[in-house]
Amino acid sequence: MSDSMTVNIGICGLGTVGQGVWKHLTANRADLERRVGVKLNLARAAVRDLRKTRAVKIPAAKLTDDSFSIANDPSIHIVCELIGGTKLAREVTLTALRHGKIVVSANKALICEHGAEIISTARKHGGHFFFEASVAGGIPIIKAIREGLVANHFPRIYGILNGTCNYILTQMEDQDAPYADVLAEAKRLGYAEADESLDVDGWDTAHKAAVLAWLAHGRWVKTDQMIVEGISRITPADFKNASVLGYGIKLLAVITRDFKRDELSVRVHPTLLPEGNVIANVSGVFNAVSVTGDVVGTTLYSGRGAGQDATASAVISDIADAASLLKHGKGAHLLGEADESVPTCRLAPPENIRCRYYLRLTVKDEPGVLARVASVMARHRISIASVIQNPSEYSGAASLVLTTHESNERAMQRTLRQLKALGSVLEDPVLLRIGDFE
Ligand code: NAP
Ligand code: HSE
Repeated sequence: MSDSMTVNIGICGLGTVGQGVWKHLTANRADLERRVGVKLNLARAAVRDLRKTRAVKIPAAKLTDDSFSIANDPSIHIVCELIGGTKLAREVTLTALRHGKIVVSANKALICEHGAEIISTARKHGGHFFFEASVAGGIPIIKAIREGLVANHFPRIYGILNGTCNYILTQMEDQDAPYADVLAEAKRLGYAEADESLDVDGWDTAHKAAVLAWLAHGRWVKTDQMIVEGISRITPADFKNASVLGYGIKLLAVITRDFKRDELSVRVHPTLLPEGNVIANVSGVFNAVSVTGDVVGTTLYSGRGAGQDATASAVISDIADAASLLKHGKGAHLLGEADESVPTCRLAPPENIRCRYYLRLTVKDEPGVLARVASVMARHRISIASVIQNPSEYSGAASLVLTTHESNERAMQRTLRQLKALGSVLEDPVLLRIGDFE
């Protein structure tokens, strides 16, 4: 493709992200074309409902309700899949890749579930799949890992990967705002997924963790191979307890690789982070990722993790890379595209996933209860580090907050099962991990 040629772009999905891409690509087209060295033509867009009023003005002739007409169109070079979900999005993506096109996607659920199939289809047909917007919104974390840090192995990557959850946790902590009101506001601001449980139950973070784990370690980890816990059981009392203990609470993805054992662990859970940890102080819709490499040491990235403009920035960066690839020759090997023939690590068993824990129990306020709880923990060799007893909202009950010394997931899950079975424990325990990362 020569300098005078035009790259035709089709956008499938014109919701929060698609409209942001259309708006900013239109506004910044001249600068982008100068930087990339080709003409960028927003050729067509697909939506579900052609009659819907949209914030961006698009000529009716460019709009369709048939995404496949874009994926199959021989004149389109780059297809942006911004529909969401995993069914239609998968079909559209695979169709475009089978034609040797470049697909740009923000769809982490799709990549987590079908990444291996998508990458191998792209390879087989000479297309490419770009996905910068799928993790951490506007932060160029994919580029950082696959290009900037290519010299490294990664013993630990952790961070906040879901803007909606961080927005909710921040508002609950700072404003004492009710959970449901804050979630509604996150939806209005365009942060939340169409199915909000993907955000609050931790699945969206897990999808993103799977993408980062694949990039860093060359292995696809399914969500049922991870610990995935969301934020819906965290209460204002947990923020108060955490603060007394010197911590904040964040929903984190934690990806660790033990190179001696050759084991990988990917998990998502609300985590107590020491108040001095930079990531404990990242608030609102912002995400933050700490990447530790064996060569570089620890690096830190922060920025808006969701919303129209931040996500559009990442999609447009992929469009620019795709246009540049078209200009300089397809088929170029992209750094960080894992070679599946290389054997990779196994998953860490629960006994090798270790940390300290915070446990909140609602118990009967009567003699011997603390001793019974301590006895269950001792049976599994879990050593208690601190105990706080607070009044409970229920009469005749107390709230016990325990922290432990380092233990492991197998011992802790067995302990939880036995604690739940005690007659003096009145509710399912709330378990949070303590993140001693520095
Ligand atoms: P959204 O606002 O719900 O937009 C989805 C778009 O897809 C809408 O324009 C919808 O059309 C269109 N669509 C749905 N079904 C379709 C069909 N059958 N045929 C053609 N078009 C169809 O979603 P979004 O927030 O922009 O998210 C899009 C993707 O980006 C998702 O994978 C999401 O996970 C990801 N993402 C979102 C964010 C964010 O902050 N929102 C950030 C990073 C990544 P109508 O408009 O006609 O209904
Ligand atoms: N719902 C996602 C979030 C969008 O809140 O982080 C960005 O991927």
